[in-house]
Amino acid sequence: MSRKFYITTPIYYVNDIPHIGHAYTTVAADILARYHRLKGHEVFFLTGTDEHGQKVEKAAAEKGRSPKEHADLLVDNFKAIWKKLNITNDAFIRTTDANHVRTVQGLLQMLWDRGEIEKRSYSGWYCTPDERFWTEKDLVSGNCPDCNRPVEQLQEENYFFLMSKYHDRLVAYIGEHPDYILPETRRNEVLGFLKNNPLGDLCISRPKQRLSWGIPLPFDDRFVTYVWFDALVNYFSATRYLAPGAEKARSGDFWWPAEHHLVGKDILTTHAVYWSIMLMALGLPLPGNIFAHGWWTIEGNKMSKSVGNVVDPHAMADRYSADAFRYFLFREVPFGLDGDFSEQALVNRINTDLANDLGNLLSRFTTMAEKYFDGTIEKPQPFGSSNFGLQCLNAFTSAHNHDIWSRCQFNGILDHIWDLVRAANNHIAQTEPWKLAKADLPRLKEVMFDLWNALRLVALSIYPFMPPTAEKIWQQLGLKSLTGETGQSITEETELPRIYNVEWIPDYAIKTAKGEQLFPRIEKDKKMTEETKPLEEKKEETNLVAIQDVAKVELRIGKVVSAERVKKSDKLLCLQVDTGGMRQIVAGIGKAYAPEDLVGRKIVVVTNLQPAKLMGVESQGMLLAATGSDGVPVILMPEKDVEEGAKIR
Ligand code: ME8
Repeated sequence: MSRKFYITTPIYYVNDIPHIGHAYTTVAADILARYHRLKGHEVFFLTGTDEHGQKVEKAAAEKGRSPKEHADLLVDNFKAIWKKLNITNDAFIRTTDANHVRTVQGLLQMLWDRGEIEKRSYSGWYCTPDERFWTEKDLVSGNCPDCNRPVEQLQEENYFFLMSKYHDRLVAYIGEHPDYILPETRRNEVLGFLKNNPLGDLCISRPKQRLSWGIPLPFDDRFVTYVWFDALVNYFSATRYLAPGAEKARSGDFWWPAEHHLVGKDILTTHAVYWSIMLMALGLPLPGNIFAHGWWTIEGNKMSKSVGNVVDPHAMADRYSADAFRYFLFREVPFGLDGDFSEQALVNRINTDLANDLGNLLSRFTTMAEKYFDGTIEKPQPFGSSNFGLQCLNAFTSAHNHDIWSRCQFNGILDHIWDLVRAANNHIAQTEPWKLAKADLPRLKEVMFDLWNALRLVALSIYPFMPPTAEKIWQQLGLKSLTGETGQSITEETELPRIYNVEWIPDYAIKTAKGEQLFPRIEKDKKMTEETKPLEEKKEETNLVAIQDVAKVELRIGKVVSAERVKKSDKLLCLQVDTGGMRQIVAGIGKAYAPEDLVGRKIVVVTNLQPAKLMGVESQGMLLAATGSDGVPVILMPEKDVEEGAKIR
């Protein structure tokens, strides 16, 4: 029996040009949708655009277009970027869809018939850009408290949704459902807000003479519907005409309610309060969860068109690949917290996590598989799980834990996956397959199978985050299509496709096929340097550095796995160092240390240094050494044993 999973993003204002913020929420939804599809669940992933209201009407008028013509042109901006970022939404709702309009009107009529809406005369301070009324005491120096622009006094008749009477019911509901609003800090904020502010009723109409671009009220067509009331209904209306099977008259109740509404923290109140109460008044079930994620700033600044620092996801995907951009967004910042974007941080992540840890692992594995066994991988018989196998199983199980996924802890999930990647890199360092190739072929076969399996579990786990990369790994491992290998085999008891079984192997012969580098290292980008230069030049010349600058240097404990002299140099040693992933470091310590003295020692390594070539040998980092009184280098080593890969802060 398959389980259904319905996930939504906000519907974005059609006027906006899609940026990193929109990409963030939508990629998050895509990750969840792909994960659930891979597990064999029936998924409905919805995104779309919010097309009514004053802002669209105004912008269209400025361009000499009708609002609908205007929306028809702009909606393609969103569709194009979702394609570029490999977003697999099942439907795209537009609030101008005739079906949506009908649903909104149907629900309004229902609320009107039930006495949940009332006509009242209202006077207040109106902010046109924000399309909302404020009371006298809300104003800040006579201006809108939100955008600080002037407001005007308006008096008019309007329709009000009687929200206030639901105050206690909403508080009780949130109290009884700890996962209804996540993360917990946001839930507490909503509860705190409700405790201190008795809810008012919500004005849900706008007289047509003031705004004509909206959905007419079914019971009074001199008014259109408030844009938020119209927009929130999209989540429900889509289940009636856009969801899989909707056209086959499958009951709308199959899809409703959604498992998750993903939103930014800016629109949590409209969702947690307005939408929840609208559903209560309609007698409809509430969604499983509203997740409000944090806010991206750009190098410490608010993103703004006038500052010119808006991050364009198209450019990021073109320059670094959609996968690297997607990975960065969810690796860098725990979902729920605010994050700061810089292109340099993205490049660092690519070079360390993706090129060094993951990419190198795959290329070393496929090279060895071809060299030692002509690419053939076989499951050893009898097959017993090794320690390494158990370690992989642990990391894999943690990365697929139900709670971590239902609480959208993407950063934690990636942590577990990288435990697996690091464990595999360590396994190569410890088993030294190049030595086994000369001395113990049966053992080498076991090692290669274990590594193959680890990489398979890595591919399966990263698929929701970086789908094309996962498919590339899958294929280099000699497997067919990753997504093609799920599905059919779900059993009633486990509800899991068989490829999730850590002992799964395909029923065809495995022959690995080395492919291109997954993530080539990115050398310092000239363009980026030029762009950041003016800022740097403004800084005063001084020997002191700010704490943020120190924090830019990533230091880790490394274990020297092997060491040799660089040919034709008496000063340089070339070390293979495990810093939670293998890297090669060339250091000028050859006069003070013999290579064999260093093997097994723990050292301190700068791991985010731009790679450089010394005597033609690439160095991917730098070890820390002091200069002794005689001018001889002295390597810094931890005073107690610390695990390789440990960060130094
Ligand atoms: O509010 N950081 O649409 P919108 C993170 N139409 N996320 C960001 C962001 C940033 N700097 N900037 C934008 C609307 N977002 C309404 C929604 S839903 C029924 C109606 C993301 O175009 C985040 O998801 O202003 C935020 O909630 C959303 O874009 C706002 O999009």
